[in-house]
Amino acid sequence: MVVLGINSYHSGASAAILVDGKIVAAAKEEIFNGISSSAGFPYNSIKFCVDYLGISPVEIDYIVIPRNPLARLPSKFFYALRMSGYTIKQIKDLFHPRSIRREVAKALNVSCENITSRFHRVEHHLAHLAASFYTSPFEKSILLSIDGIGDFTSTMWGVGEGNKIKPLGHISFPHSIGLFYTAFAQYLGFVNYGEENKLMELSSLGDPIFYDEMKKILIYDYPLNYKLNLDYFTFHKKGISLYWQENKPKLDSLFNRHLETRLGPRRGVDERIELRHKQVAASVQMRLESAVYDILNELYSQKFIPNLSYAGGVAYNSVLNGKIAKKTSIRNIFIHSATDDAGLSLGAALYFYYNILDRQRIGTDLFSPYLGPSHSISRVKSAIRKKRLKIIDTKNPMKLVSLDLAAGKIIALFQGRVEWSKFSLGNRSILCDAGNKGAIKRIKRIAGLEFFSTIPVVIMEDYLNDYFDALNISPYMLFSFPVKKGVKKYLYPVIDRKGNVRVQTLRRVQNPMLWDILDYYRQKMQSPLIVNAPIGRDTPIINTPEETINFFIENDIDGILMSNLYIRK
Ligand SMILES: [Fe+2]
Repeated sequence: MVVLGINSYHSGASAAILVDGKIVAAAKEEIFNGISSSAGFPYNSIKFCVDYLGISPVEIDYIVIPRNPLARLPSKFFYALRMSGYTIKQIKDLFHPRSIRREVAKALNVSCENITSRFHRVEHHLAHLAASFYTSPFEKSILLSIDGIGDFTSTMWGVGEGNKIKPLGHISFPHSIGLFYTAFAQYLGFVNYGEENKLMELSSLGDPIFYDEMKKILIYDYPLNYKLNLDYFTFHKKGISLYWQENKPKLDSLFNRHLETRLGPRRGVDERIELRHKQVAASVQMRLESAVYDILNELYSQKFIPNLSYAGGVAYNSVLNGKIAKKTSIRNIFIHSATDDAGLSLGAALYFYYNILDRQRIGTDLFSPYLGPSHSISRVKSAIRKKRLKIIDTKNPMKLVSLDLAAGKIIALFQGRVEWSKFSLGNRSILCDAGNKGAIKRIKRIAGLEFFSTIPVVIMEDYLNDYFDALNISPYMLFSFPVKKGVKKYLYPVIDRKGNVRVQTLRRVQNPMLWDILDYYRQKMQSPLIVNAPIGRDTPIINTPEETINFFIENDIDGILMSNLYIRK
């Protein structure tokens, strides 16, 4: 049975395809069109999924959409969710099966008669919960999804057991922990869609002196419920204006003048970052952390389940995630690699297959995030030849790469399938020595990062506790851990001001090429970790060999390993 999940007309447009419950392929539209968090319809992603599987369009049994117009109807009548440029009727039409069928046919370049699939809808947060639970190793787990808003819900929790997901409660719009955080990202000048990570990074530079103020803005109501003080916000009155221009998602300002009266004027996009901005960021981060830990502790006290499958945009907050095992009674944490709305296409397909069709769950040891397109070795060779680059004659390129890294070089790595993640996890990465200040400065310049941005590292999983104070693994780079005292001096260039580093833990089975480079590097340098930054500047993960080679040539990178072919500048 073939199930195609589609997230469309929303940030993180994407598609994912299952065959008898097995995840075969998944990709975000942004990797094809180069627009971060691309909205619109995922024509390229759908075509990729169907072509990868090698089926004809008539063989798609079900198409599942992570949006349910019948969910939370009373709220929807009360508040109007607006999308600029669209009337309510137009929005309804966009999501009508007839319209989706027409667009899928367009993506696959066939007529509508060839799309014979049946359609099914899954509520937004159920799709988030499903993405995390069904790819987790847990038989039984607490489930939690937190984001800005989806189907008029901002937070949902429940329990997953076997192949079933049981939602137990939710927080409804306009109250939203995610919108609280996004509003402050905007207030601090990070106005582009998905720039909440900058608020988190900035928070390490300040003290939370406005925490008491934040408690009055995001208010504890009663167990498992948080509400916003709506005096500070606009969206409960005028709705949320989420729209897209040329496939870029846009969100209008969420807060009003009252917030500026209390905390001072908002920071303009190009204005200097002052102490007050760092203090506000630290206070917002602390409020977010305390609310999420409180929810998790309450869920644990009700269910006594030590496992957590966590999802939603807020689950990208690696600083918060890194402390869950210490601040709560939760012991084992799994967060899906594409935890934001891009992951909804896969989550909806999984929810439909396991929960609705009641199929037996396929056991998984560790979910693989390498689900996107790959490119043939002949295409890679031809791209290299076209640029007249010289391939180094070596039987062991991984060892050569590790020696170059040890010598302070910056090396790009291009191999296999594109990551199903916001982060490069070793198939489209730039690597360097984590203790080399000069190399890290160069990488920050290449990636166009802010002065306060932190650089993640990848570490062999067996050595995690030698370097970090960590109680769980982090296979998808979604946890920041405090560095242990003894190694702080060596890791100084990658540590944030509060002593944390964002970490990817790696077993050989997950990514043998990256693991082998790390192992050679460890033998040479006695260090089992290196910097793992994305290839690209203000762009999504790069997809093709041609784009990668152009990026390598145009930037300050010393070498590139492409599917076993090593090139030095
Ligand atoms: Fe969401």
